Amino acid sequence: MKKIVLSLGGSILVPALESNTISEYAEVLKQIARRGRVFVVVGGGGEARRYIGITRSLGINEAASDEIGIMITRINASLLCYALGDAAYPCIATSYQQAREYGESGKIVVMGGVTPGQTTDAVSAVLAESVGADLIINGTSVDGIYNTDPRTDRTARRFEKMTPQELLGVISGTRLNAGSNTVIDIVAAKVIERSNIPLLVIDGRKPGNLTRAVCEGIFTGTIVSNDECAPLPL
Ligand code: UTP
Repeated sequence: MKKIVLSLGGSILVPALESNTISEYAEVLKQIARRGRVFVVVGGGGEARRYIGITRSLGINEAASDEIGIMITRINASLLCYALGDAAYPCIATSYQQAREYGESGKIVVMGGVTPGQTTDAVSAVLAESVGADLIINGTSVDGIYNTDPRTDRTARRFEKMTPQELLGVISGTRLNAGSNTVIDIVAAKVIERSNIPLLVIDGRKPGNLTRAVCEGIFTGTIVSNDECAPLPL
């Protein structure tokens, strides 16, 4: 069975606590788990940004702000883990070693952030290396990777396909402060380059997009890979 790491940005899973898509995503993940071994990394979303806004106003440093962000990602991961019930390993992993061990159960493994100085994009990339995943899918609130920020630049152009080296070119120069909001963080891009595991960035605002991508290979987004062959459907 193929192994797949799904990075679910907090911006799609828990944009705000009350407007979460956790139960919809739990159903989607159960469906995908019939086709492959699933590892899910959950982001911090709106709540993490609110907390980080407060740490800034209190003059708390970036590393400590990151630690607060990590706690929020783990709370979100716990919500998803409970919502998955029996389909998930019953504890969230807090290290890659734990994720590998929990994966031996054959159940869906859920985790959040790990260490300051990065985002859950980097966790997904390292986790994919660590468990020997065939593919990483990053579900986020934009429909792929653009040459400039589509929210502020109307001439922004989306890449259908790009190499990891091209990805590094696009994101170099972006900042990595706590709560920062680039489509893929630089640590993740570096790890993807060295591991050569294909990455798919898709619009995850509708949970059904992920099912269609994995089961039918139909999606709007960007494939980051050196290989020519399509990584989906599973
Ligand atoms: P993320 O940025 O990964 O979640 O973590 P997000 O906001 O859900 O991402 P998107 O925009 O939806 O894709 C939230 C914050 O937690 C800290 C960082 O400060 C990050 O901005 N964090 C997370 C870490 O420091 N280390 C980690 O391993 C993960």
